Amino acid sequence: KEKIILDCDPGHDDAIALLLAAHHPQLELLAVTTVAGNQAVEKTSRNALKVCSLAGLHHIPVARGMEKPLVRAPGFAADIHGETGLDGPDIPEPVMSLVSMHAVDLLIDLLLRAEEPITLVATGPLTNIATALEREPHIARNIKAISIMGGAIGLGNVTPAAEFNIWFDPEAAQKVFQCGRPITMIPLEVTHQALATKEIMRRLRSSGRRVANFAADLLAFFADTYEQVFGFSAPPVHDPCAVAAVIDPAIIEGHDIRVEIETGGEWSAGRTICDVYGKIQLPPNARVGYSLNVPHFWDLTINTILTYE
Ligand code: BDR
Ligand code: CA
Repeated sequence: KEKIILDCDPGHDDAIALLLAAHHPQLELLAVTTVAGNQAVEKTSRNALKVCSLAGLHHIPVARGMEKPLVRAPGFAADIHGETGLDGPDIPEPVMSLVSMHAVDLLIDLLLRAEEPITLVATGPLTNIATALEREPHIARNIKAISIMGGAIGLGNVTPAAEFNIWFDPEAAQKVFQCGRPITMIPLEVTHQALATKEIMRRLRSSGRRVANFAADLLAFFADTYEQVFGFSAPPVHDPCAVAAVIDPAIIEGHDIRVEIETGGEWSAGRTICDVYGKIQLPPNARVGYSLNVPHFWDLTINTILTYE
């Protein structure tokens, strides 16, 4: 089994990523670390606890992380995920508590003590991972790889130039993209292929299972906000793509290229500058996803969600 840590900001699609990460037979989810992003870190942490509680994942440590970006003021995504960060279905209060360690300390601790390298899956802003690397650079040698949902080759979603996770904390993203460990970047070009269509919703609901129904309820809310904000007829389920890329790298078709993060810019802060044509004269630092094997992605995601009661 591949050992992973999920660093996230749940978030509707983060919740789906968590369900996939915790039950896929090829993965061993060591911990969930939370970060400010879609909402304040108190809220994203509470949401992680709620999802784990509801899904019976009581054994997974959940640690609360950074409450704001490294240098900027936070800009939450209430228009997409609501005031709680996980609006829509009524979710019972969590029956679990956060571990007492801060997420950054837990990341450092798990990585320093690891007997085999650990893969980090990041589905929120990169503040926790950047802070851990800054505080304890030795952790890098035990990071097997980092699979990141973030960035775009072309158009952004939070601004015309930038994708939300990178835009929220560009300085952290810059630090992580320069860390020297293998990075898989799952940009919007990939995640916009992972659409929760009516047929996907039907497959989740037809099982009649409790957790699959919960996933469908989350996606129904996500579908509404994506329609209002972007006019999409089905919402892109971004975050589980970064988990799927660890389970089966071949699910993503990608290229090794240089990615730099725009930390200045009047209009372009948080843009991922993808050097597709090799203009920058710097070696590649990321494998950037271009396309997704969509049927395989949904089979893997839905089949895993159906393993919950
Ligand atoms: C990313 O932003 C968040 O709103 C989602 O959870 C996802 O991680 C997509 O841009
Ligand atoms: Ca997210």
